[in-house]
Amino acid sequence: MTGRSSRVIVDLDAIRHNVTRLARVSAPARVMVVVKANGYGHGAVKVAEAALEAGAHGLCVALVQEGVELRRAGIEAPILVLSEQPRDQVGELVSHGLIATAYSVAFIDALADEARRRDVVGHEVHLKVDTGMNRVGARPDAAVELGGRVLARSPQLSLGGVFTHLACADDVSSPVTAEQIRRFDVVIDDLRRAGVDPGWLHIANSAGAIAHPDSRRDMVRVGIAMYGISPDPSMDEVCSDLRPALSLVSRVSFVKTVNAGEAISYGHRHRFERTTNVATVPIGYADGVPRRLSSVGGAVLIGGRPRPIVGVVTMDQLMVDMGDDRCAVGDEVVLIGRQGDQQITANDWGTSLGTIGYEIVCALSARLRRDYPGAIAPDDSQ
Ligand SMILES: Cc1ncc(COP(=O)(O)O)c(C=O)c1O
Repeated sequence: MTGRSSRVIVDLDAIRHNVTRLARVSAPARVMVVVKANGYGHGAVKVAEAALEAGAHGLCVALVQEGVELRRAGIEAPILVLSEQPRDQVGELVSHGLIATAYSVAFIDALADEARRRDVVGHEVHLKVDTGMNRVGARPDAAVELGGRVLARSPQLSLGGVFTHLACADDVSSPVTAEQIRRFDVVIDDLRRAGVDPGWLHIANSAGAIAHPDSRRDMVRVGIAMYGISPDPSMDEVCSDLRPALSLVSRVSFVKTVNAGEAISYGHRHRFERTTNVATVPIGYADGVPRRLSSVGGAVLIGGRPRPIVGVVTMDQLMVDMGDDRCAVGDEVVLIGRQGDQQITANDWGTSLGTIGYEIVCALSARLRRDYPGAIAPDDSQ
């Protein structure tokens, strides 16, 4: 292994496996995989390619620039941008053939004007309806007028779909999901009565696709489950056939023995009661390991066992309590992933830190190299 030992390893076989599983559970709905935020920290292009190979129909992104990155990598599959975008991005959105999401008159008109300027016919638009998330989307009672407006601006635009986003799907017992689906169905009925063909209908995120069959319509938009992370620890059981794709690994960079009574790291917040072997690991909060992970019981795997992180995590390094056990410079450290029969998951970190696995993997910074074992390197393809 060359270069920095701290790195993210992404198992693209796990991505392919998870896409296959999610497609099977969602069938006959098509699977759109969500690769925004650099594929939830896993690397958008590599994940997108693997997911498409495994049968995903298309991709979802949050930003035009994320869609453009995929197009520049040669990906021609449908790409849906999940929210309206700043007006100065509309040109790139249209020219790269990204499917637009719209929920306002002004944005629909801006899209149509841009399409006309570029002689584009039938640029695909999906209408987003807010059925209870209260983030973005058209109010249900405005949807018919907006759907009609997309059609009225034809031939520049075509209404390819109508969708909504679930707020509480990961809480399987919440009545909110059924109510959101009911509101969505009212909108679809109203559109059809008004003579508007809504196109593809889609509601489900990962939790919807897995746990709410009624939310699997023509398409599902799955993110977190494709990465093998359950949307909420309460769903671990139903996600047990998914495989986590991401590991966060490093190697011990320094070992020493600290005497009883000595303290460690900034602020000396941890003091050793007895003489202890300590390993230093070259990864820190600049890489996305939260500074306070040690104070919530955070541990890493060394020598096949969990070892507590001691003292605050620093910007580039953290320290680990080996007790009486020994380790050597170069020994493997697993922060997220498996070592022997032990495993630490992104959701384990999330639970300890009062957050969710999504935030943990998205926060792994660009400083960490992403490795894709088994992927064909450009030089090997000759
Ligand atoms: C509109 C929309 N659809 C789908 C998803 C995917 O959600 P998940 O990662 O829970 O599957 C997201 C993610 O935030 C989203 O914003």
